[in-house]
Amino acid sequence: MRMRERRRAEEISCSIIRRLRTASGDWVSGRKIGDALGMSRAAVWKHIMHLRSLGYRIEASTRLGYRLLGPEPLHLQIPESICSRLIVLESTGSTNEFARGIADEAESWTVVIAEVQTAGRGRLGREWLSPPGGVWMSIILRPRAPPSEAFRYTMAASVAVCGSLRDLYGLNARIKWPNDVLVNGRKICGILTEISAELDIINYVIIGIGINANMSVSSLPEEWNATTVSAELGREISRGELIARVLEEMRTLLESGDVYREWVGLSDTINRRVRIQGFGDVSGLAESLDPDGALILRRDDGELVRVLAGDCIHLRSAEQSTGARVGGQQICAGLRG
Ligand code: BTN
Repeated sequence: MRMRERRRAEEISCSIIRRLRTASGDWVSGRKIGDALGMSRAAVWKHIMHLRSLGYRIEASTRLGYRLLGPEPLHLQIPESICSRLIVLESTGSTNEFARGIADEAESWTVVIAEVQTAGRGRLGREWLSPPGGVWMSIILRPRAPPSEAFRYTMAASVAVCGSLRDLYGLNARIKWPNDVLVNGRKICGILTEISAELDIINYVIIGIGINANMSVSSLPEEWNATTVSAELGREISRGELIARVLEEMRTLLESGDVYREWVGLSDTINRRVRIQGFGDVSGLAESLDPDGALILRRDDGELVRVLAGDCIHLRSAEQSTGARVGGQQICAGLRG
């Protein structure tokens, strides 16, 4: 097909989809569509087949015509202008892994989304369950920045998720250090950032975002203390709308926002007693957060330490530990105060 003909065919397909959308799930006869667009019913059928091949779910009946079923496919719900390239996969092991495979050649703001991950990865080498209904996506960024700034991108992701959950659904989402997003004390989103860098410059950053969107809480292990957007709201949401909003908020933040200030403002960890495990075990009062993402912890023996990584447990007063032990240079670097 020549360029002009292809454009014309696309215009017609768009026009058909607009008519079906306007009918809000009701039937529209093939004759009516054909008359409006000056074409035969057979030609309308050809366009319907084309639309189906793009992922639109259109039911056909010889007696009633056509009607649009269910939500539109994910890639059609996300405006093209938000990312440089959008890749939507039916299923993959891990979107972070997939992104890593293309990152050397990819432009900044290439986004990989999967309906299902079969080997989703969490922080600290954990497994991340990724059934249908969730938002499983990885964003490739290529900032001209030193590796010491990498944490800024993870911060921006967690702030953008919180902002989107609040603005779209009124959920009071907060950040548990370093970057888990919680709603009512339960985890709704996890973020896994991976970087490739030289000593002084980042090659690329892959920000993996997992949001428990449309799924039941019972589909997730109880010990994860997780929640989902649909469970909080009592209804399903449009994942496309959520993804688009998260990407928009992240872009705005990284281009013109004060990422660190917003991240601190959303912290659910500051002023709490916490226990950090993973590279050792240390408990104390979370006093503040540094711009490089470190948690400043007042240990039970009164000493102030900078914790760079680990698994953070918010302690309730009954669980407050005594005799905390610091094990592992990696999480505690440099004493302050
Ligand atoms: C965590 O809290 O442990 C981080 C979870 C990150 C999960 C996301 S889902 C999309 C991307 N692909 C992965 O394999 N992991 C991240």
